[in-house]
Amino acid sequence: MVSFKNWNMWSGKSIIAYLNHFIMKHLSYLFEGMDSYLYYLGGTYGAITLTSIAAATTYYYLSRPTPECPLVPLNNQSPILDGPDQIHVSKFYKDSKNGKFVSYISESVRTLYHTFREGAYISNNSPCLGWRESLHSQYQWMNYDETLLRAKNFGSGMMSLGIQAKALVGIYSCNRPEWILYEQGCYCYSLVVVPLYDTLGPEACAFIMMQTEMSLVVVEDDSKANLLLEKAPKSLKVLIGIKDIKRSTIERAAQRGIQIYTFEEVEKLGSKINHPEQPPTHEDLCTVCYTSGTTGNPKGVMLTHSNVVAGVSAVILQLGEHKIRTGDVMISFLPLAHMFERCCENGIFYVGGSVGFYSGDIRELTNDIKMLKPTVMPAVPRLLNRVYDKIQSELAASSFKRTLFQMALNSKESEIKRGIVRKNGFWDKMVFKKVHESFGGNLRLMVVGSAPLAGNVMTFMRCALGCLVVEGYGQTECTGAITLTVQGDFVPDHVGPPVSCNAIKLVDVPEMEYYANQNEGEVCVRGANVFHGYYKDSEKTADAIDTEGWHHTGDVGRWLHNGTLKIIDRRKHIFKLSQGEYIVPEKIENIYITSKYVNQVFVYGESLKSCIVAIVVPDVDVLKQWANENNIPGTLSVLCNSLTVKELVFKDMQSWGRKGGLKSFEQVKDVYLHPDPFSIQNGLLTPTFKSKRPQLRNYFKPQLDDMYKHLS
Ligand SMILES: *[C@@H]1O[C@H](CO)[C@@H](O)[C@H](O)[C@H]1NC(C)=O
Repeated sequence: MVSFKNWNMWSGKSIIAYLNHFIMKHLSYLFEGMDSYLYYLGGTYGAITLTSIAAATTYYYLSRPTPECPLVPLNNQSPILDGPDQIHVSKFYKDSKNGKFVSYISESVRTLYHTFREGAYISNNSPCLGWRESLHSQYQWMNYDETLLRAKNFGSGMMSLGIQAKALVGIYSCNRPEWILYEQGCYCYSLVVVPLYDTLGPEACAFIMMQTEMSLVVVEDDSKANLLLEKAPKSLKVLIGIKDIKRSTIERAAQRGIQIYTFEEVEKLGSKINHPEQPPTHEDLCTVCYTSGTTGNPKGVMLTHSNVVAGVSAVILQLGEHKIRTGDVMISFLPLAHMFERCCENGIFYVGGSVGFYSGDIRELTNDIKMLKPTVMPAVPRLLNRVYDKIQSELAASSFKRTLFQMALNSKESEIKRGIVRKNGFWDKMVFKKVHESFGGNLRLMVVGSAPLAGNVMTFMRCALGCLVVEGYGQTECTGAITLTVQGDFVPDHVGPPVSCNAIKLVDVPEMEYYANQNEGEVCVRGANVFHGYYKDSEKTADAIDTEGWHHTGDVGRWLHNGTLKIIDRRKHIFKLSQGEYIVPEKIENIYITSKYVNQVFVYGESLKSCIVAIVVPDVDVLKQWANENNIPGTLSVLCNSLTVKELVFKDMQSWGRKGGLKSFEQVKDVYLHPDPFSIQNGLLTPTFKSKRPQLRNYFKPQLDDMYKHLS
């Protein structure tokens, strides 16, 4: 290590200025560590000691931590409008105070067709899309102009295949350059992007194709093509394969009157026929983004170009000096079928940055990242939790490492509290270098979204990465972000103030005892990013957006004193019993699940009844052990039918219910024990492992009816 003790002997301004200039030219070497920098000087320019010392001095100057000045006072991050509703708005837009929202940055750039061209222009045709042929190869790049040309050709090709402007067309593929060629191809002809994705399941994909009367879908490969063919509606006429599609699939499709083309064929066709472009206006639909809920069919969230541009612009504005720009490189691995990733990528294109796609296998993400060396990365809690757990388990082996690590964390945390964000300090190099490297070494901005991130993991990532890490809260219905933490706010466990394209108010949820005058309630959002309803579903639209234009998110939030929002709950499925008492089944389930005998539980009731009942999937291991100890023979099914077992489980649940503060009408009056777990496969759980209540109700209708018969 180089000692910087005597640095102030070189505080002469002109030398520093000269060296700054010199070193700025070779900045990359600084971050490789001092050794290689000195070597560089010595090798090329001749090592004179004086220069080395001076370089060290300047190195210190450059790396001397300067605290950042937060863009808003951290103790007052969102102003409140006058009036009874306590509406919170953004400080990043001065007209927010007058109830206005940011819709765009530049009046002439209000669609994703135009943002992309803006990026092409300001970046002077820089690299746009990057991909790797294999895990051993470098990234290859397609520049903006080529991307635009190929996208237009592809769009023109779709038109040549009989698609009408403004039609809804699908894509079923993981992230890759063709996704963007398709997306921008759509915008050239005002077509509406409708992503399909695995976790929807084949049923929901079929429903979506039917509801949108889709006639064309771009599919990644043969298996996805087959999955769609299985339940293809009559409207489907064309599939476009990105990878090779098997002969047999092509024949199978032909039998149903569906033509299969390759991606290149469509591009060639388009370039030959060369349809004149029909770009969208900002009020045109940009995408219908389907979300799978816990009930019924997926809902198609309708977003206009204006919605998306507003969402992207507000986030860019809020990032201040850290905003994305030409030269930024983003790693793309979160599904493009979700608006979080779509917004991040379109933001990067807007500023003329580059997007590099992962190679398609999430297990190889680190390999891709090391090759790409991204500067910007969207991330989800699941990924960061994995990084955190991995490091914790590595530390578990050595108490020396643990101590060192803790010292490093403490020191970094106190830096962060002073507003210092850097990765070139002593501890960064000593302890966190490996973490930096596993993220490619160039990361300067990480945006975390899509689910709540635990506070300790957030602080850990901020320390270990030494770059700006912000957390957002959003919903497909609001395009992307609703709130975003501001740079300089080091406190975790909240999601920041509203972004400048929307305002937020909380409304009472009396049945869950949340009241807006106590700064708690359901989060309601109004603004330029709020969607235009669910596709062909006016009923659900009316449930979600009230007559004043507030979207009721279903999330329950709390305002913290400094004007930031914390998400604390989810508005639950609720019903009244015949005697007028409110029942929140999920709350009751959460209490019963603490019984060691209970693996899964579904609490059910209806407003015509005066009590509730439950379906319980017992814990196999616990029950088997109990049966062994009590010499009761039989399989799990047999045990489930035993009255003794039922009594045992029932009594234990009741006692946990009492301990958990359930009122007597909140306790179930009967249970049915079921041996097979609820799962995604049997259609009783959502992909995120939540109970699908209507499905559970239908599935167990005979048992539920039977229990009620005996209770009345
Ligand atoms: C914001 O307020 C919360 C409590 O309401 C507090 O815990 C937190 O430290 C505050 N944040 C900052 C940056 O001061």
